[in-house]
Amino acid sequence: MSEPRLNLPSRPRRNRRTLAIRNLMRETELTPAHLVLPLFVHRGADEPIESMPGAYRWSLDGLTGEVARAAKLGVEAVVLFEAVPEALKTPTASEACNPDGLIPQAICAIKATHPNTVVMTDVALDPYNSLGHDGLVAPDGTIQNDATVEVLCAQALTHAQAGADIVAPSDMMDGRVGAIRTNLDHHDHSDVGICAYTAKYASALYGPFRGALDSAPRSGDKKTYQMDPANRREAIRELELDIAEGADMVMVKPAGPYLDVVRDFADTSTVPVAAYQVSGEYLMIKAAAASSWLDEQAAITETLTGIRRAGADIILTYFATQAAEILG
Ligand code: PBG
Repeated sequence: MSEPRLNLPSRPRRNRRTLAIRNLMRETELTPAHLVLPLFVHRGADEPIESMPGAYRWSLDGLTGEVARAAKLGVEAVVLFEAVPEALKTPTASEACNPDGLIPQAICAIKATHPNTVVMTDVALDPYNSLGHDGLVAPDGTIQNDATVEVLCAQALTHAQAGADIVAPSDMMDGRVGAIRTNLDHHDHSDVGICAYTAKYASALYGPFRGALDSAPRSGDKKTYQMDPANRREAIRELELDIAEGADMVMVKPAGPYLDVVRDFADTSTVPVAAYQVSGEYLMIKAAAASSWLDEQAAITETLTGIRRAGADIILTYFATQAAEILG
């Protein structure tokens, strides 16, 4: 007795029949070359981060070791974040612009050992601000836009002078991309690129990162500068502004819950689109995998592939090295 036969001219399963056929038909590539590894650095010995299992606050030596490990696996881009001791945090965040600070030292250390690795830096005041905000806080508690942009320009210049390839303003102040561009050009750093955090949402998923840096706002929240998670059209407004101001790349952050915005950017942007799989997205997978409720490796490649499929050219992810290992 033969099986009942449907008269189907189209059987999509034919294209999934064997691994080789599936590989042949695959529409989206995920390779280490697209990934950027965020790294934390501090003044002290290598130390595991409680809120982000598997991640570390690195010493300068530990940092270059991680850069080496990533590069060997094909991840040749990193973005740096500094965990700042409480004693160096001030309301003016002046340590952010210290040419002898830890980020300039880290840039030099990486460039001395791995000149080919792309070094990106975070431009924002929160790790350096005793009030924990990305911008300067006025006595009445409001975040001062234009005064902050001046400090961000100085911070970005400090990173450029130390040898950063790309500066990445994550603060969400209006007009900072254009101001940083003008200031870099004025100081002969027209080769240094700007990766704009263009659609950065006021997200609950940054919690583990703020744990890593002890950088949570000491009062209030970030909703007067980071975007409302409910808004999609507004992201296009930010996109148009950042491109007009000279951004070399535009970013959506977080990634997973905002894939519609990633797709909008991919369809509209004239510069490459980045997406940031943030600390909370990382922790959700790590925590679920730690209790064996999901397959960690499969979840990593699936979420990263989804972000690529939505249209991201570049993905910032704490899984970068691990993903490169999995992709083999
Ligand atoms: C700081 C900054 C944050 C992140 C990147 N840069 C935190 C914030 O805006 O509060 C979050 C990254 C992550 O959660 O992985 N400007």
